[in-house]
Amino acid sequence: MEEMNVEKLDAMPMLGLGTWKSAPGEVYQAVKTAIELGYRHIDCAAIYGNEKEVGQAISESIAAGTVTREELWITSKPWNDHHGRENIIPAIKQTLEDLQLDYLDLYLIHWAVPQKVANAEKAEDFYTLEERPLTDTWKGMEDAVHAGLTRHIGMCNFSVKKLQQIIDSAEIMPMVNQVEMHPYLRQQALVDFCQDNGIVVTAYSPLGSNDNPLRKADAAILLKDETVAAIAEKRGCTPAQVLLAWNMQRGVVVIPKSVNPVRLQQNLDALNVSLTEEDMDTINGLDKHYRYLDGSFWCVPGNPHTVENLWDE
Ligand code: A2P
Repeated sequence: MEEMNVEKLDAMPMLGLGTWKSAPGEVYQAVKTAIELGYRHIDCAAIYGNEKEVGQAISESIAAGTVTREELWITSKPWNDHHGRENIIPAIKQTLEDLQLDYLDLYLIHWAVPQKVANAEKAEDFYTLEERPLTDTWKGMEDAVHAGLTRHIGMCNFSVKKLQQIIDSAEIMPMVNQVEMHPYLRQQALVDFCQDNGIVVTAYSPLGSNDNPLRKADAAILLKDETVAAIAEKRGCTPAQVLLAWNMQRGVVVIPKSVNPVRLQQNLDALNVSLTEEDMDTINGLDKHYRYLDGSFWCVPGNPHTVENLWDE
């Protein structure tokens, strides 16, 4: 299994650019700069509302000869109103049109929360998982691979229980589970399960997503954690680089978001930061199973999807 992971990671760069929360006006320049700096992995999603700008930047970078399509790893995700086998191909076709691409490298079910409408606000706006089984949506994902629209498929925000359901019925195995992951949310059991099953874990919000509009006002600021700061000082790097190196050293891919050229470079340079075993242990000790994005925004009265059954914990 380990060998399989290494082979997969050869193709999927360990560090990519996150585009969630990047405003359409800013993301075009961020993607162009990132590609010029050497980023080769870009993480997108239909719901981020900026795929046209991301696509413009990618297409201009390819036209200018800065990079080739084959050198890039592009991920995207259908939104929750596209669950169901028949809805995946139309969703990926729209994303490909917006990104100006012929194929994706990776397409991920965004949330295990099927919605009837894009902006679900009341209980009736959601399907239950019995009405829209994840295994049926997975068949649509497999259809997208067979149609040559994406090279790999996976999911985001899936628990071990939900991953197992897919593994048990899949024709094409998931390549990636993308979840929130940082020292306050270590999720070692989930990482172990994924790695034992040949599934790569990608960490979103690896820096703690200070710009997440849904974060709680009293949430601790990960980038200001004193333990992380002390290790950064010892290693001659920044707290952000420590956070990224910690995940990468445990085999977890990171997709930090930035629209700032200096921070884009700094995050890329985290690839050269090496933490000692003692540093890793110290950072592991910061775990408090804290989610900045806990899914509570879906908890409207009567909704079959709750925080508990979303994470199965
Ligand atoms: P900005 O885009 O202005 O650089 P996450 O990837 O966990 O979602 O975190 C993204 C947030 O962290 C954004 O507010 C981003 O701001 C900020 N950020 C990104 N890189 C760094 C860095 N190297 N140091 C400090 N803040 C950073």
